Amino acid sequence: MSAGIEVSPTALASGNAATERFRERGVRRGDPPTSPRRISEIVNEVLHGIHDAIRRHKVTYTEYQAVKDWLISVGENGEWPLFMDVFLEHVVEEVAHEHRQGSQGTIEGPYYLPGQKTLPSHSALPMREDERGTRFVFTGQVLGLEGEPVPFARLDLWHADNDGYYSGFAPGIPEGNLRGVIVTDEHGKFAITTILPAPYQIPTDGAVGALIRSAEWSPWRPAHLHLIVSKLGYFPLTTQLYFRDGQWLDNDIAQATKPELILDVAPNPVGVLETHYDFTLDPVQP
Ligand code: DHB
Ligand code: FE
Repeated sequence: MSAGIEVSPTALASGNAATERFRERGVRRGDPPTSPRRISEIVNEVLHGIHDAIRRHKVTYTEYQAVKDWLISVGENGEWPLFMDVFLEHVVEEVAHEHRQGSQGTIEGPYYLPGQKTLPSHSALPMREDERGTRFVFTGQVLGLEGEPVPFARLDLWHADNDGYYSGFAPGIPEGNLRGVIVTDEHGKFAITTILPAPYQIPTDGAVGALIRSAEWSPWRPAHLHLIVSKLGYFPLTTQLYFRDGQWLDNDIAQATKPELILDVAPNPVGVLETHYDFTLDPVQP
């Protein structure tokens, strides 16, 4: 890579990386086991939905074969994590957390990497010496449902860079860049210095990109921070925070925005851009 030339991640590279990382972590098995009856009912309902659409739109053999071809390409590029997390995860998240009383969650997406560097409560995310982008300080506190501080909670934070690319999934970005696990202080408080991420575009050169283009949908997600906030005795909160007036906030391809998740960033009394957000965690035993 020569200096100044942008290297964009291809669907193939980011898709295959997302697939490999997903496979390394494995499927989390905390829920009651799926039964044959449940599998039969759900899969039948999905298939009937597809059958209905074929009948109502009189889907042709050409279209049927094009879909087969497309499905094969999604797999070949490793794009299933991208497809699933962009088009389906928001509803799984909605169902999973419908009884949550604390802060709103939203989708995790395909770009989480566990095992990042642990950082003190007041620190900067790892970034390149010449990291481009607007610096800001993200302050807040982790609380329980009664407003009690949650000391030494963990904020696993990751976000895209000034070009909308994630370390670990795009070429040329150092490992662990703009990723870290911040441990709050004894009052649950934190202050993290990082840069404003750019909006994220679904890779346009792969099968998912081809679908988005063919349907004339928008391939964008608004700029966002990803977080998993956790502490023993509380349900972990997987969420994202967005930026007031950010582009694509009202047209997120992943449908993962919520009004409660929008940050206001403004200069603080000493002229540094700052935003504040408090997280409320649901206890495991209420
Ligand atoms: C996808 C990427 C993201 O950064 C995200 O937050 C959600 C989904 C995706 O490409 O599927
Ligand atoms: Fe993301």
